[in-house]
Amino acid sequence: MNKTIKSLKNYPMEELNRIKASLKEKGIKIYDFGTGDPREPTPDFIRKALIEAVPEVSQYPSVAGRKDLRDTISKWFKNRFGVSLNPDTQIIPSAGSKEAIFHFPLVFIDPEEDKKRVIFGTPAYPVYERGTLYAGGIVNPVKLKEEDGFLLRLDKIEKSILEETKIVWINYPHNPTGAVAPASYFEETVRICQEYDIILCSDECYTEIYFEEKPHSALEFGIENVVVFHSLSKRSGMTGYRSGFVAGDEKIISLYKKERANFGVASPDFIQQAALSAWKDENHVLERNRIFKEKRDLFIKFLDSIGLTYLYPKATFYIWIKSPSGIPAKDYVKALLENGIVVSIGENFCSSVEITENNCESEYFRVALVPTLEECKEAIKVWEKVHKSFL
Ligand SMILES: Cc1ncc(COP(=O)(O)O)c(C=O)c1O
Repeated sequence: MNKTIKSLKNYPMEELNRIKASLKEKGIKIYDFGTGDPREPTPDFIRKALIEAVPEVSQYPSVAGRKDLRDTISKWFKNRFGVSLNPDTQIIPSAGSKEAIFHFPLVFIDPEEDKKRVIFGTPAYPVYERGTLYAGGIVNPVKLKEEDGFLLRLDKIEKSILEETKIVWINYPHNPTGAVAPASYFEETVRICQEYDIILCSDECYTEIYFEEKPHSALEFGIENVVVFHSLSKRSGMTGYRSGFVAGDEKIISLYKKERANFGVASPDFIQQAALSAWKDENHVLERNRIFKEKRDLFIKFLDSIGLTYLYPKATFYIWIKSPSGIPAKDYVKALLENGIVVSIGENFCSSVEITENNCESEYFRVALVPTLEECKEAIKVWEKVHKSFL
């Protein structure tokens, strides 16, 4: 067995699934706020585009992806972020963003080099760490702090560490905290990465789920050494389709495109055609955001009424909530779970390094607003009772 696998803790979502299965056995109604996989249907026109694109003869898709899809993404990016990207040299369609994030360090980390650190903030989406470990890089988690608005502050990291760093991952709007980053933050982060010749990887899969000002892309602040990862999963309700793209610095994109031929992850042609129709339309995105906002507002009102503190979510469908003072998050989350409300404990977003060093305590837990509005209303009633049991 690969040594890396042995050193990893269980993938958090698998653990959650086990707990959910045992609740089901007991006949308890489950309100699943655990996994970030919304249940709103994929718009009709996207499903139709997929069906119509299924060919009689199906052949291998290319790593470069369809030209018409790349052209459409380029237009979308220009409209949305005001940045011009060459569709032939600066955009690669991917099979969702997860695989592209995981595979990235396999191409850009040389385990023999000194410059092989990969910095990311925690709590974090676990794939930044896993890709790094499989690639033989050095994992460098940095705790994100409430007083920094959960921003990964490179200006606070020692020069000697930055000099050894090959890749920095940022992710704003952020999973799991819902934090968003201002323009000044992106400016500074891009500048530091360019100064230290670090590849800035900006995971932007939540930029389209927002309720107030539009979130930024790192590419608005510089192209050199910057790569962004986008996805249709959350934007268009297409988690099952596996479709996204990687874009940015031409020299990085061209090497990544060349090496991706090894991975067998080219997006199927009919998925790309469905993706093309999704990137062309903004109405369904507005409608999805209206629904997520309704759920967010409902929850915020509830959390305020029971006096829980949380990071106000301007974007994403996550709420990062603090356990009531004096009650360990583990106990509070367990009580919710026993009553059918599945949420993710903050520790699920620690890195393996933090777990190994016993440095993984969190007073937070994450609610993913994925059940329907009606289910959210029902769950709130159950939650209220659970909360009262602690008073
Ligand atoms: C921060 C973050 N990045 C990337 C992904 C991967 O999304 P996908 O592979 O569906 O595009 C997720 C999924 O939950 C995520 O939360």
